[in-house]
Amino acid sequence: MSHDGGERGARAPGEDPVRHTRACTPAELVGAAPEPEFQLTFDGRPIRALPGQTIAAALWSAGILTWRTTRVHGRPRGAFCGIGACYDCLATVNGRPNQRACLLPAGPGDAITTQEGDGHAALDG
Ligand code: FES
Repeated sequence: MSHDGGERGARAPGEDPVRHTRACTPAELVGAAPEPEFQLTFDGRPIRALPGQTIAAALWSAGILTWRTTRVHGRPRGAFCGIGACYDCLATVNGRPNQRACLLPAGPGDAITTQEGDGHAALDG
């Protein structure tokens, strides 16, 4: 009997036991069966999301890392803390500015737009 638990856990000599899996995604690792994906938009561009994903997660999944610019210098920002504490992830969602993308669940048809400055420029007038 081998020290790795017998035949089921058998592996080649020198093989890393932590990497002994065929799962490729977090959903596969936990055996999840997500509900069907849906569509939303970022600056008019269609992107996909899964039920339960936050808007930040959906944007990240689409390769979008920034969706806001700072008030003073116009520097790009996206998610930083991921837990609702830093406010770096503010976005305009369905016309409402200053929504924390890391906390807000994505919904079918949501329209996320890049937020510039305090997000109220489009509301003034
Ligand atoms: S990433 Fe920090 S509040 Fe959203």
